Amino acid sequence: MHDLIVVEGVSKRYVTSSGPVDALRDVSLSVGTGEFCTLIGPSGCGKSTLLGILGGLVGADDGRVAIDGRPVDGPDPRRVATVFQDPGLFPWRTTLENVEFGLELQGMPAARRRRVATDLLGPLGLRDFAAKYPRELSGGMRQRVAIGRALAIDTPIVLMDEPFGALDEQTRVLMGEWLLEIWRRTRKTIVFVTHSLHEALALSTRVVIMTARPGRIKSVLELPMPYPRAMESPELVGLRAKLWSDIRDESLRAMQ
Ligand SMILES: Nc1ncnc2c1ncn2[C@@H]1O[C@H](COP(=O)(O)OP(=O)(O)OP(=O)(O)O)[C@@H](O)[C@H]1O
Ligand SMILES: [Mg+2]
Repeated sequence: MHDLIVVEGVSKRYVTSSGPVDALRDVSLSVGTGEFCTLIGPSGCGKSTLLGILGGLVGADDGRVAIDGRPVDGPDPRRVATVFQDPGLFPWRTTLENVEFGLELQGMPAARRRRVATDLLGPLGLRDFAAKYPRELSGGMRQRVAIGRALAIDTPIVLMDEPFGALDEQTRVLMGEWLLEIWRRTRKTIVFVTHSLHEALALSTRVVIMTARPGRIKSVLELPMPYPRAMESPELVGLRAKLWSDIRDESLRAMQ
């Protein structure tokens, strides 16, 4: 598989008024084209920082990050879109207008961007909600609008930072299934952050487990099984136990 994203020896230290915080230390990782790569690890281990570095929003102190062979030296909205935990919708814009936002920034003519956004509403399950404002939508719908906004600009890479973190468990599972469909249809490369073992095992082609801060790569789990996955199969139950044991160790270290 072609390595689309290459991270080599990346370290990041934040300098704060109470002293330096080593967020990442010597992280190396590559993500192949079309992969669904999930980062998991204790709170504060640098997952959001790493996504920020991939998206060019945060500068690394050391190491190298390249996408398609080109170094990342700032945000590149043609190649990378990001979905954050908070949907961050504009309250004064309707669903359709929120989904259109990135296209507007790109300067796409109004009629064309309306068509692109409208075509996305079907797969987003929001066709009947085009004219509604964020306050009129459920949490899951709002998050779908935010994902739609990222998908509309049609970048080959989508970074997702706990996109379903604020949703209830049932909605989360359904949103995961929905995202899987979108990913399989669009063949985008997704780097996804979650705290949910279920999400990681149900969705990913690869799970990267990070250590407690300073975040390093602790282990990598390859998940070549087809979708939809039988989560109760002995293979996945075994993998879940291994994943939990690694994360538990690191979460305990993070709490000390
Ligand atoms: N802008 C910043 N300035 C100073 N320190 C920061 C900044 N952003 C993050 N940090 C610190 O860097 C460390 C890593 O933070 P980060 O948000 O990347 O972790 P995370 O793995 O995403 O955590 P969570 O699972 O809670 O979202 C934390 O100790 C955090 O306090
Ligand atoms: Mg985070």
